[in-house]
Amino acid sequence: MLFPDLRPPTIALRGKEELRKLRAAGRLAHELLDYLGPLVKPGVTTEELDRLADAWTTARGAVSAPYGYQGSNPNLPFPKHICTSPNEVVCHGIPSRRVVLREGDIINLDVTPILDGWHGDASRTYLVGRVSDAARRLVETTQQCLDAAIREVKPGGRLGDIGEAIEEVAAKAGYSVVRDFVGHGIGDRFHAPPQVKHYGKRSGGDGRGRGLRLQPGMVFTIEPMINEGEWPVQMLDDGWTAVTADGKLSAQFEHTVVVTESGVEILTLP
Ligand code: MF3
Ligand code: CO
Ligand code: CO
Repeated sequence: MLFPDLRPPTIALRGKEELRKLRAAGRLAHELLDYLGPLVKPGVTTEELDRLADAWTTARGAVSAPYGYQGSNPNLPFPKHICTSPNEVVCHGIPSRRVVLREGDIINLDVTPILDGWHGDASRTYLVGRVSDAARRLVETTQQCLDAAIREVKPGGRLGDIGEAIEEVAAKAGYSVVRDFVGHGIGDRFHAPPQVKHYGKRSGGDGRGRGLRLQPGMVFTIEPMINEGEWPVQMLDDGWTAVTADGKLSAQFEHTVVVTESGVEILTLP
């Protein structure tokens, strides 16, 4: 999510009760992505996936945070319940009956149920049938980028550690890291401080660590978008859809995590 607000952030530290609720919302996000997996098949439209996701969510007493969400343009609230981002779409693709999945596509589904007022934000990139080796390698590497980033999360760690870990894995594979969208604090709000950059450096020239120091109770998402080609993105005039400027593939995985006393807990897991 793009975060133009540059005020010094106050970052909430969540306690037991709040974490219990975040865990419940996070688990729901994970289960929704599990539910959607087998529905990602050639011939399905992204609108159909949206409809099924929303029905599944409301049946569990939750609501879909993206629906009506205000982005940078107040005249264009997000019109659907999940984001569906195939192939060259980097993020925030709008479900549509005109988008029909085809064998060989890749597609990110990004879901954010709100349960009892608390958000769980997660996404995965799925393979539609058999895909090219190039597409599969991009998706696998993107998953590895998220895994590497999560391993950096611990008290005393820094946000800069996360960015460098992601970039290292991406660069080694010959890919680039999208810079226009970041991970974010999350809780009773969808998007809150801090911004979590998916690129950058652990430390400055003086050897001192870079970026916010992590503390137990901080809750944020990590959601690297990795491009097969160059990192610049272009916005479509629907006000939401970001695509790669060079038209090449992009993949993304996202988890919501909390810094614990000993390290990290992934909230968007069972
Ligand atoms: N789920 C996205 C994120 O990871 C945000 C989507 S905002 C929407 O931050 F309005 F496009 F849904
Ligand atoms: Co997010
Ligand atoms: Co998301």
